[in-house]
Amino acid sequence: MKLTTSQIEQFNKDGYLLFPELFSQEEINVLKAEADRVSQLEDQCVAREGTTGQVKAMFRLHETDGPTASKAYRAAAHSPRVLEPIRQLLNDPDVYIHHTKVNMKAAIEGSAWPWHQDFGSWHLDGIAKPEMLTVMIALDEATELNGCLYFLPGTHGEGRLNPYFDTSTAWKLWAVTPQDVKAYMKEKAQPIAITGKPGMVAIFHCNLLHASGHNLSPDDRTQAYFCFNRVTNRPTDVEKPRPDFVRSTNWVPIELGSDAAILESTR
Ligand code: SIN
Ligand code: MN
Repeated sequence: MKLTTSQIEQFNKDGYLLFPELFSQEEINVLKAEADRVSQLEDQCVAREGTTGQVKAMFRLHETDGPTASKAYRAAAHSPRVLEPIRQLLNDPDVYIHHTKVNMKAAIEGSAWPWHQDFGSWHLDGIAKPEMLTVMIALDEATELNGCLYFLPGTHGEGRLNPYFDTSTAWKLWAVTPQDVKAYMKEKAQPIAITGKPGMVAIFHCNLLHASGHNLSPDDRTQAYFCFNRVTNRPTDVEKPRPDFVRSTNWVPIELGSDAAILESTR
């Protein structure tokens, strides 16, 4: 799937692009079944929260080895619908995956993600340039009630804002200060709710400010994330590197796969 010039211009202006129902319900069923399988595992790649140990995030689904490896997620990561726009927007055929994750925000108990820029963490992983992108695939309908993502359009143009370490949820991360978020919202733009049917895709820049609220609905909200970097922008050594499942050291360029591969992965 190739992006048009006007889509590239829109991405450069807003820091994200949306594609309603880019993956079929049949493909989403395969990815959801795989997420359910992986969520049963007891492994460091499966992060849980709350008194009942609900899954918050699962990592490293795109590789060929390890307990969380999934042929279907690998197929999605290599799919032309994902990889071609990424190569275009990063202006580089040689890209790899910094990490994949599936965030399962459980009904009622699933917690929020504070306002942050992904590059807040990734720069501390040793990555020099904010030339990274994430592809989000909605595996359930994303609604405001069930804790959809919100984007602050244009924030990718602000550069990396000095982050603080947020420890308010089970998954601790480098977040943007309330002062910076409030100033941007008051002076420049309002958040956009990223709602849509299963199969919707959002591609967003690593400096785009984003967040999501609690899941107040009776149903779980599941979303898959594939985070891409240019091979030449791979991390340099840092003193205490995060584990491989969030800071991959597999810098082999990803090869283009087939659009049929998600469904074929079940055969
Ligand atoms: C993230 O920004 O990394 C996850 C947000 C979400 O799943 O709602
Ligand atoms: Mn994020």
